[in-house]
Order: sequence, then structure tokens, then C-alpha cells
Amino acid sequence: METFKFSKEFMLGTASSSTQIEGGDTNNTWYEWCRKKNNSNRDTCIRGCDHWNRVEQDTGILKSLHVQTYRMSLEWSRIEPSAGEYSEEAIQHYRDEILLLQRNGIKPLVTLHHFSDPLWFQKLGGWKDPRNTEFFIKYVKFAVEKLGDLVTDWITFNEPNVYVIFGYLLGVFPPGERNVILTCDIAAQIIKTHTEAYSLIHKIRTDRNFNGETKVGTAIHFRIFDALTSKGKKTAALVDYMFHELYTEGVITGHLMWPLPKKDAKIKKGLYADFLGINYYTRNIVEFALDPSNYFYKFLNDGGLDKSDLGWDIYPEGIYRVCKKYYSKYELPIYITENGIADEKDNRRPKYIADHLAWLFKAVSEGIPVERYYHWSHLDNFEWNEGESARFGLYQCDFDTQKRTARKSAELYARVCKNKGLTQKTIKEFSLK
Ligand code: BGC
Repeated sequence: METFKFSKEFMLGTASSSTQIEGGDTNNTWYEWCRKKNNSNRDTCIRGCDHWNRVEQDTGILKSLHVQTYRMSLEWSRIEPSAGEYSEEAIQHYRDEILLLQRNGIKPLVTLHHFSDPLWFQKLGGWKDPRNTEFFIKYVKFAVEKLGDLVTDWITFNEPNVYVIFGYLLGVFPPGERNVILTCDIAAQIIKTHTEAYSLIHKIRTDRNFNGETKVGTAIHFRIFDALTSKGKKTAALVDYMFHELYTEGVITGHLMWPLPKKDAKIKKGLYADFLGINYYTRNIVEFALDPSNYFYKFLNDGGLDKSDLGWDIYPEGIYRVCKKYYSKYELPIYITENGIADEKDNRRPKYIADHLAWLFKAVSEGIPVERYYHWSHLDNFEWNEGESARFGLYQCDFDTQKRTARKSAELYARVCKNKGLTQKTIKEFSLK
């Protein structure tokens, strides 16, 4: 392991999402989704990290990590508890949280939609009814008018590709649909909504003369899809197109590529991203397979690589490959909006962090403008279908007592954030190879 040092402008932080950490909200689709499958609180978002009541304590954790920035999300179902009714109390809560971050020298990056929808929205047909998009746009307007004086940087949708594909094609996220045509309709709808939200956020911040340069984008989930056979290569290219290209091209340029329907979703071609948000965790080896759950592909592991607790291959070079590929295509500044590992015992996390950052440093050294890195996450949290079982935290969270305990990688990450790099001393102390 070699040392590296980013420039002083480079920002390091951690990322989270409201549904995964706040606890206490039963008005969102994820609560209902998990509740239906299983009655155990462990598998719903009802507990999370009780962050809603522990904002001060958790901001203290961020401070101890020496982060310069923090990616958080707003819970739409709290801000708009029923259709058209907005909660001043909820928005004030977020305002207070953001002010606290800023008092601690931490710059917020705020996500407006991170996988969960309000239950009332789903009951009205959710994204299936294009007229409902208006609800989201009005919520964005409300949130940005209320917080836009404090927040310059926004993410409209977290992982629109995962949200749509898991929810409407594979049926493993709410609303649990498996319908190819519907998937295309919803994808077009979400892309269109993003472009509207992008323009709206810029407009509000400009019209109101809010300070600071506005930055709006999405965070897309990128994987490396490699293959070992020629059939596998063709399949990987198709999966790559459907999983990455359609969405990336859509949210950046407004171009709806085949097979996304153009008729109802006319978008003026333009530029709808001020940065490219990359969530990167792993690589998959793709093979063709007529598989009832995945239609035409299957993912294989690479036997030679270490795995996370979820069995995901640890492949740090992938973060470099994604940055290189998408910078050459779009030439946008890059934020690594998520990167992390489920590793309860914290045996692999220190090296995971160091290796991914070393590959990012290589990208930066080659002139790719990677400007930020957000580690997922500072705290163990509610990991969607895996419930409380998958542990992504630099800090361990005991969900019964809500006690937070630093893992050893918290100390490593704190040093990296403080130095904006990795020193020889730290390499030695953490026995990084
Ligand atoms: C999501 C996070 C999730 C993380 C780890 C990303 O796909 O945005 O919400 O916790 O991956 O699985």
C-alpha cells in the first residue's frame, strides 16, 4: 500500500438516507413493504438508528470523523404526511440539522428521494400515474424554498436505476412489480421528473438570490459488469446498457434512449447535471442464463476475490474504471456519492477504504476531476431487504440500546479525512498491505 494525498479542495464525507437511519416513520412504502413480509421490527425501518431523536449525537460522530461534507436525505413522507399537506415541524427539524452540520464546518449534500415514497403517494398510483409527478415537484419546491438558503448541493434521485429496476422489473423493492413495459414507462417518468426538478432547484435558488453556486445531480448505482465467455460478454453489454446507460444518459442529457417511451415524456435536450454522482460497491461477472427471477442473465462471483458479508466481490479497481469511462463520456465533475462494505467484524473495511481511495487518487492524478468521496456509512443502519443484518457502519449501532461504538476503521477514516490522504504512519499502524 502506498501513500496518497488529495488536494485541499477535495472533500471527504459519509452518506446516509433518512429511511435507513431515522426510525419512527410508518408513513413510507418501505415500512409497509417490510411489515407485510415479516412482523419483526428488526426487518423494518421502524427502529433504524433512532437518528430523528439523536441528531446532535450523530453530528458529534461526523465531527469526530473529521468529515468536510455529509450526504443526507429528506423523508418525503414526513415533510408531506398526506397529499398536499406539508409539515412545518418536519422541515424545521431538517433545517436545524443542517444548521448544526454547518456550525460544525460540515457541508451538506441533500438527497430529495432515496428509495422510499409516502404511502399516500403509492395509494394514488405512485409513479404509474404521470399526473402524480406533480406531487413530487411540489414537494421539491417546498423543500428547496425552505432549505435552499442553506443548501447549495442537491441530489434529486438516489439510484434511479436501482429504484426502477428493483421495484418494477425484478419485483424485489416496493411496489414489487415485474413488468417490462411498466419499467420503461416509470424509467422515462423518473428521468423526466429529474430534469424538471433540476431546472426548478436552479430557478428557485437564482430567483431568491440564495448564496453559493447551485449544484444538482443524481447518484447512480454503477457496477462493473465483466464476463468470461463470449455469450457472457454480449449479455454483460446488454445488462450494462439497461442498468447504466439508459439512466445515465437520461438524467444527464434528457435523452430517452430505446426502449424508453418518448410519447408522454417529452424532454428538452440539454444538460441536467452539474456533477455525476457515482455509487460504487462491487463488480459482477455476468453470464447468459434464462433465469425466472432475472430474465436473461445471472451474476457469478469471482472466486479469487475477497467478499463482503453480503457476498459481494471486493474489486477496488472498479471505482477507477467507472470514473474513467463516464468522465470520458460526459466530462462532468465526479462525486463518489457512496462506497462502502458490509463487514460486521471490520476485518476488511480498513483495506477496502484505503484501496478504493488509492484507485480514486490514481484517477485524479490522471486528470479526472473526482471532487468528493462519501463513505457509506458512518453508522450501521436499516439495509432495505437485509433489514438490520448488513453492517455498513464505521460505527457499530446496537439497535436494541442505540449505543454507537466506533469500529477500528472509524479511526482510519478519521485520519484519512483529516489528512486528505493516507500517510506512512497510518499504513503501518493499520497494517495496510
Ligand atoms: C443504496 C443505499 C444502500 C447501499 C448498500 C446503495 O445502493 O443507495 O441505500 O444502503 O447501496 O447496499
